[in-house]
Amino acid sequence: MFSVSSRHEKEILLSLDQMIVTKTDLKGQITYANRTFMEIADFQEHEVLNKPHNLIRHPDMPRGVFRLMWKTLQKRQEFFGVVKNYTSNRKQYYWVLANITPDFNNAGQLAGFYSVRRPASRAAIAALEPIYQQMRQIEAKLSKTEGPDASVAWLLDQVRMSGASNYEDFVMSLNKDIIK
Ligand SMILES: Cc1cc2nc3c(=O)[nH]c(=O)nc-3n(C[C@H](O)[C@H](O)[C@H](O)COP(=O)(O)O)c2cc1C
Repeated sequence: MFSVSSRHEKEILLSLDQMIVTKTDLKGQITYANRTFMEIADFQEHEVLNKPHNLIRHPDMPRGVFRLMWKTLQKRQEFFGVVKNYTSNRKQYYWVLANITPDFNNAGQLAGFYSVRRPASRAAIAALEPIYQQMRQIEAKLSKTEGPDASVAWLLDQVRMSGASNYEDFVMSLNKDIIK
């Protein structure tokens, strides 16, 4: 099923049973992608393996969200985020609720990261789309270093005003209908 966005890109609406999984090394280079990822993002395996994960980055995503993600992962904590991603031809996009976790090897050393994604709820998309837009505007006025820090600070203010204690809790509460 499709709906049309203002940019004339089409949204792919994911069904609840679609679980998109990828794995990366420590730098975010893709080391594994499941069949669902290949089907939805419209890639063949050889086109994604050893490629940076920003391969599917949508320009509507604020840098700040990824800065928050990497900071959380560096602390060896899991991250929950709502992310808009592109398909390979950049004419279609899809929204996911991503759970990214550190991946440890047998020796207990950090070896990379796992991302398991489900469809984001419409409530989460409706709440986060204008927030991400505002973050992008904040970032546009500042340097690449300062912008994401300023946009994250603004995001966390919004989160706290809504009564949540952090971005992850905010995201989880907006998706509670689809998380069982
Ligand atoms: C396990 C894992 C999964 C990721 N999944 C995505 C994703 O689905 N979409 C995305 O845009 N970035 C994803 N990233 C983040 C990218 O590595 C990158 O930080 C982000 O796209 C911003 O890229 P840029 O700094 O080049 O703009 C993921 C990173 C990791 C470690």
